[in-house]
Amino acid sequence: MMQTYKEQYRPQFHFSPEEKWMNDPNGMVFFNDEYHLFYQYHPFGTTWGPMHWGHAVSKDMIHWEHLPIALYPDDLGAIFSGSAVVDWNNTTGFFEKDKPGLVAIYTSAGTYPDSERPLQQQSLAYSKDNGRTWVKYEGNPVLSDVNITDYRDPKVFWHEETQKWVMVLATGQTITIYTSLNLKEWEFASEFGHTAGSHDGVWECPDLFKLPVDGGQEKWVMIVSIGDNGQSAKGSRTQYFIGQFDGTTFVNDHDDSTILWLDYGRDNYAGVSWSDIQDGRRIYLGWMSNWRYANQVPTEAWRSAMTLPRELSLTSTENGVRLFQKPVAEVHTIRKETESYPDIAIESGSNVSVPVNNSLLELTIEFEKVTSSQFGIIIQHSDEEKTVIGYNGIEEKLFVDRTLSGDNSFSTSFPAVQEAALTLANQRLKLQLFLDTSSIEVFANDGEVAVTSLLFPHKAGKELILFSNEGTTNAANIKLTELDSIWSR
Ligand code: FRU
Repeated sequence: MMQTYKEQYRPQFHFSPEEKWMNDPNGMVFFNDEYHLFYQYHPFGTTWGPMHWGHAVSKDMIHWEHLPIALYPDDLGAIFSGSAVVDWNNTTGFFEKDKPGLVAIYTSAGTYPDSERPLQQQSLAYSKDNGRTWVKYEGNPVLSDVNITDYRDPKVFWHEETQKWVMVLATGQTITIYTSLNLKEWEFASEFGHTAGSHDGVWECPDLFKLPVDGGQEKWVMIVSIGDNGQSAKGSRTQYFIGQFDGTTFVNDHDDSTILWLDYGRDNYAGVSWSDIQDGRRIYLGWMSNWRYANQVPTEAWRSAMTLPRELSLTSTENGVRLFQKPVAEVHTIRKETESYPDIAIESGSNVSVPVNNSLLELTIEFEKVTSSQFGIIIQHSDEEKTVIGYNGIEEKLFVDRTLSGDNSFSTSFPAVQEAALTLANQRLKLQLFLDTSSIEVFANDGEVAVTSLLFPHKAGKELILFSNEGTTNAANIKLTELDSIWSR
């Protein structure tokens, strides 16, 4: 008998449901010392199906406690993606004086009466007991537009300056912004994006929030996931925009042709940020899969996991302001022993081997390119299987090659070399890698670039190999940390 969380490929320090299918994170909100994570959940199968909201809570966003399903399908349809907020001032009237509660704003995905034609509308549910039980609002749906077929994934926040709730909603190939005083009645404010950014697929799962640039002046970030169009090799992925927002209209700082990717790996989709975190951090988490093969990945009891939670920031680079991401500080809760290695010059043809006997690892390393054309790390999972994380100095690209990582058989779209353009300041590349049983997350140069990738090696780690082709590379500050399973408590 398989034991839960011990199965082959089961992520050990990433959130995954005990069993069955999961996709997007939903309703992420911090309230009464708990981080809530709801998620698109199909409790009867390991492929996508009638959507419910699954639920888990955490004190640190790393260790999770599973709770019963929060929202079940109803007469208006399945429960698609959405958000949750704390209604601090009881604008809805759902709560008692001085006892604020949670309101979930989600998409009811149904069909027209007597027809198969999809009808997506926005609905509310509220909870007076820290998200343990939910009541659906009797006035649902609260927002409909029969002219728009893809009309979903409301993300709501309180806009202090205008004293209104703001909703960003995915509306086909644009994001539509609505405002409200009470979450029940919504007014159209503006529409963004007809010609901006990537339109490779349907727009989904938006988010909008402000962040200081280099800790100073604030700008707004809009996140937009774009669905798999069935053609482009990359499947579903996530872009972002940087601009201004006045409570009504989002104005993009860039021209329409600029596309900014949130992640250069194949497996970070539909991510959004937590609402109501009080310590000033903006923390994001995504679904660690891709619609191109999510229904086929080789796991049996469950399907899919979430990325590590990541703190977002806006930082100036040579190319302009960019969204940086780094794993939340709370990852320290899973760090076991750290081993430091002496600085070393890696010569071409003489690779440096570091044996490992744990498949759960964090590696930090700083490379200095001296004369090499290509350098990096080979994760040798076993004699036959490896993942290569490298930098191509000629093309100035970071890459994560999973073509030989393990089981590739389930989808022709899975084997891939994932690349990110990255210019090195002072010829230096700082990498932080998190290796779980079936994924790797690579953060380069303090989070300027992230590459999130699933991998299905048949066996656990064997050794790490540092390599340098056609010349020398210096490696410094090499630290290898074993990580703990979050399910072992
Ligand atoms: C994104 C998405 C959302 C939708 C949900 C359905 O992955 O397609 O647009 O609400 O998944 O499960």
